[in-house]
Amino acid sequence: VVTIKWRGQPIFVRYRTPEDIKDMQAVPLGDLKDPAPDSDRVKKGHEKYLVMIGICTHLGCIPLFNAGSFKDGWGCPCHGSQYDAAGRIRSGPAPLNLVIPPYKYTSDTKITIG
Ligand code: FES
Repeated sequence: VVTIKWRGQPIFVRYRTPEDIKDMQAVPLGDLKDPAPDSDRVKKGHEKYLVMIGICTHLGCIPLFNAGSFKDGWGCPCHGSQYDAAGRIRSGPAPLNLVIPPYKYTSDTKITIG
């Protein structure tokens, strides 16, 4: 996971293993507070990279990687929201998934955000 800055906001860019991707694709939408299939969280053909704005959708803290009880997810230290390895809210007070910023791939390993 790397964190970069875009328009003053932290952006999490995370490499996902084939196992991570398979696990996230297998989560039933009915288990999700803000239902979104894994395919909506990544670009087609680039499922191994997750790009998200690293701001909790509750009150705006910065979630910590591997700090929750969801494998390879994020935990918010402020009030305990927990996000899974696709950045989807799974428990706690946050109402929505971590936001995906507008971005596009300009090569296999380079993205442009915005
Ligand atoms: Fe993240 Fe409240 S700001 S849980």
